Amino acid sequence: MTPSTDWSAYGKQIETAKTLADLEQVELAIFGRKQGAMTLAMQQLRDVTPEEKKTLAKELNEQKRTLDESIAAKRKALQTPSASSLANDDAIDPTLELPARERGHLHLIPEFIRQVEETFGRMGFDVAYGPEVEDEEMNFDLLNFPKEHSARDAQDVFYVQKDAPKDNKWLLRAHTSPVQIRYMREHKPPFRMICPGRVYRKDADATHSPMFHQWEGLMIGKDVSLANMKAVMETAVRELIAPDASFRWRTGYFPFVEPGLEMDMRWQGEDRQTREGAWLEIVGCGMVHPNVLKNVGIDPEQWQGFAFGFGVERMLMIKHQIPSIKSFYQGDLRFLRAF
Ligand code: DAH
Repeated sequence: MTPSTDWSAYGKQIETAKTLADLEQVELAIFGRKQGAMTLAMQQLRDVTPEEKKTLAKELNEQKRTLDESIAAKRKALQTPSASSLANDDAIDPTLELPARERGHLHLIPEFIRQVEETFGRMGFDVAYGPEVEDEEMNFDLLNFPKEHSARDAQDVFYVQKDAPKDNKWLLRAHTSPVQIRYMREHKPPFRMICPGRVYRKDADATHSPMFHQWEGLMIGKDVSLANMKAVMETAVRELIAPDASFRWRTGYFPFVEPGLEMDMRWQGEDRQTREGAWLEIVGCGMVHPNVLKNVGIDPEQWQGFAFGFGVERMLMIKHQIPSIKSFYQGDLRFLRAF
C-alpha cells in the first residue's frame, strides 16, 4: 500500500504530537528511508515525463522543506519545559536561587599536619605515631636528660597517678621526642621519619598552651650531616610557610642532640607590633647525641644523623599572623571559617 501523500494531514500530526516519541513516529512515516511517504514520492519522479517532473519536483521540495521545518520547531518545543509543566509540584524551578550550601572542612591543625606529612613524604620520610601517656624513662632518661634536669620538674610536666616501678613515673609526654626512641628500637638504620602528635606542658600564655602539637623528625644514615639537616628543614619551611619565609639559626641546648640548634621565624605578636614582627622559636634540632643512639642499640661509630621538633601551632601563627595560641582551641566559628 502506498502511503498517503496528504502533506497537510502530516502537518497536523506534527502539530498535535504530544511527546518526542510521537513526533518521531510522524517523522518516520514521512521521511523513513524505505517506506516514508516523501521518500517514495521522490522516487516516483523517475517515472514521470520531464515536464511533469519539473512541477512535481518543485512542489515536493516545498512540502519537504515545510515539513522539515515544522518537525524541527516541534522538537525544540517538546524539549523545552513549558510554564505549565513547571507549575507541577514535582517540577524543578531553575530560576529559584538557593542559598549556597556550607560544607565543613578540617580544623587547620590536622589539615596542616596532613600537609607536613605530604611535604616530608616527598622527601622520603616515613610517618610514625606514639602514645600520649609515656613514662619518665621514655620522655627523659633514654633521651639523655640527666636525673636532675629542670625539665622533669612537676612545675612543667603533668604526672599521671598510676603505679610505676621505682625511679620511674607515668606522665603526659612533654614532647614528641620519645617517638624517636620507639622508632629506633623497631627499625634498622638507615631511615628517615616524622612523627606528629599532641604534647602536654604546664604552660599558658599567648604562645604557650597546656596541650599543643609538635612534629618530630629523625634521619639516620652513614654520613647524614648538619648540612643535610638544614637543607631538609629549610625546604620544608619554605614549602609549608612561604617561599620567601625569613628565619634565623642559632645554637640551642637539648640533651639529646650535640650540637643543638634552634630556628626562629618572624611573628606579628599580640604585644610586639613592629612591622617585621618579633622572632619566635619554632623548632629545636641538632645531631642525635651518641648516648641516645647507644640507648637504642645503634652503634654511634657507624651511624649518625639529625633530629628536629617543630611546633605546629607556632608555625601556623607565623603563617597566618595569628596573635594568640588560644584561638586554635576556642571553637570560635569566625576564626575557624577564616581558614
Ligand atoms: N623536644 C624539644 C622540645 O620539645 C624539641 C626538639 C629539640 C626536638 C631538638 C628534637 C631536637 O628532635 O633535636 O622542646
